[in-house]
Amino acid sequence: MDIAASLLVSAFISLVCSQGYALSWNYYAKTCPGVETAIRKVVQDAATRDKTIPAALLRMHFHDCLIRGCDASVLLNSQGKNTAEKDGAPNQSLHAFFVIDDAKEAVEALCPGIVSCADILAIAARDAVVLSGGPYWTVPHGRKDGRISKASETSQMPSPTFNISQLQQSFSPMGLSMEDVAALLGAHTIGFSHCSSFENRIYNFNTTNDVDPTLHPSFAESLKNICPKDNKAKNAGTSMDPSPTTFDNTYYKLILQKRSLFSSDQALLASPNTKSLVYKFASSKHSFYKAFSSSMTKLSSLTGGQEVRKDCRVVN
Ligand code: HEM
Ligand SMILES: *[C@@H]1O[C@H](CO)[C@@H](O)[C@H](O)[C@H]1NC(C)=O
Ligand SMILES: *[C@@H]1O[C@H](CO)[C@@H](O)[C@H](O)[C@H]1NC(C)=O
Ligand SMILES: *[C@@H]1O[C@H](CO)[C@@H](O)[C@H](O)[C@H]1NC(C)=O
Repeated sequence: MDIAASLLVSAFISLVCSQGYALSWNYYAKTCPGVETAIRKVVQDAATRDKTIPAALLRMHFHDCLIRGCDASVLLNSQGKNTAEKDGAPNQSLHAFFVIDDAKEAVEALCPGIVSCADILAIAARDAVVLSGGPYWTVPHGRKDGRISKASETSQMPSPTFNISQLQQSFSPMGLSMEDVAALLGAHTIGFSHCSSFENRIYNFNTTNDVDPTLHPSFAESLKNICPKDNKAKNAGTSMDPSPTTFDNTYYKLILQKRSLFSSDQALLASPNTKSLVYKFASSKHSFYKAFSSSMTKLSSLTGGQEVRKDCRVVN
């Protein structure tokens, strides 16, 4: 086979493997009917012990889906010369991997070799939202686990300094609209952020303003107190909103009060379309929940991978 032909073949194979299968609602109906119950129990137990776990699981799933589709590439450990996604930047908030290990163990005991790590993570992320008081949605099943995880690919992750056009550029290739982005960012109603993720807004913002003028002055002051200029405390930071374990629509209310953490959150006010959604979601938790559930289903249906991993941290 000549080079051109073999390139074509491998392009075709990678297309089929990365996007060529559909998810379904009854994928495990015969092979592992107890899968959802088993995962829920593990997530619930872990969240009872540590309130930071639901946010970590939700972000982990998002991170997974953005790189190579939802293929559990985020769960793989670095091995040999390969540095995996979880050890690349921006990895600061990635933790709670043990919860997925525990869930995998529970599921393997029930139906060995059947359920992918990518499905487990997608289900755990939904459970994390429900446990935080947020909406329930049905997670379609049948994702496959990938064999590749590269720290270098985390540069595809959107940055918290992104403006509205950069947000669009990073989500549209995946078929996610700005309406999806406006809804998905409501996930920032739970969890924690390190200083490094929002420091751009409080020091040396641009040549005319040291502090981002779109930040409420007293909020900017409080962020400066939490994150002093030459702060060496690597773990310093603040919760995403005043109720960081409750999945509600406070995130949108805070944007309107100029109290959102990231430039990328504030950016939702920069286009008429997303701005009107911020107003809508701030005034109606119900419409936020509806939009979030539907956009999460879209995000978590970006598939990839080709196997069902035995151990979520290593390829078969
Ligand atoms: C433009 C897109 C996004 C950007 C730039 C972004 C950025 C960030 C940053 C910088 C943090 C804090 C990391 C740290 O300092 O520890 C964070 C946390 C978080 N993000 Fe996002 N994010 C985005 C979209 C999403 C989406 C779509 C979801 C889920 C659907 C999500 C869920 C979370 C959660 C739950 C946390 C808290 C994590 C924890 O407490 O462990 N984010 N995000
Ligand atoms: C994050 O990645 C850096 C390398 O970019 C690594 O040195 C660090 O240990 C990682 N941090 C965590 C919490 O995994
Ligand atoms: C967004 O940022 C990029 C890169 O810094 C810049 O080229 C672009 O003009 C900005 N767009 C808007 C709408 O501010
Ligand atoms: C600095 O940021 C403010 C607010 O976004 C903007 O109005 C101003 O034009 C910026 N200045 C420069 C030099 O980019």
